[in-house]
Amino acid sequence: MDAYALDLSDGQRVLEIGTGTGYNAALLCHRLGAANVVSIDIDLTLVDQAREHLAELGYATLLEVGDGADGVPGAAPYDAILATAAVDHIPHAWIEQLRPGGIILTDLRGGFSGAMVRLRKIDGARSRAAATITSQPSCRCAGRRATRCARA
Ligand SMILES: C[S@@+](CC[C@H](N)C(=O)[O-])C[C@H]1O[C@@H](n2cnc3c(N)ncnc32)[C@H](O)[C@@H]1O
Repeated sequence: MDAYALDLSDGQRVLEIGTGTGYNAALLCHRLGAANVVSIDIDLTLVDQAREHLAELGYATLLEVGDGADGVPGAAPYDAILATAAVDHIPHAWIEQLRPGGIILTDLRGGFSGAMVRLRKIDGARSRAAATITSQPSCRCAGRRATRCARA
């Protein structure tokens, strides 16, 4: 799972972009506790279904409906932002909502291909690419802005 690349520690807060089934959110809840996990998806139906799936597991985490490019400012700051929907740039909202030292893990798409990138915010205003850790083929995604899906 990509979330392993986040190298999470107890008590950290994570924002997941792209709730989908809620599977990845459930893994994050198991690791960090539901209170430390926030997830957003652009698809209301998926969020409703994910909420049911998570409730069956006893997790009452915060799920939002909206464009993940805006993050979830009301629950920030986060120690990590994990995007399971691909982006063609890093939304500034993610940087603003990330703690200094925090990690963004996302599929960053190029013209014909994409790669998973792990970015560390190195101070309050800037971030830099720390490493490109994997690359993977593209697939189609339901969202408006995210044109390809990253596997959870
Ligand atoms: C690969 S799936 C995520 C799988 C999910 N993490 C899971 O564990 O099942 C990508 C998800 O990103 C969502 N998505 C696409 N564009 C989005 C956007 N702009 N904002 C929020 N979610 C988006 C899609 O609706 C889809 O559910």
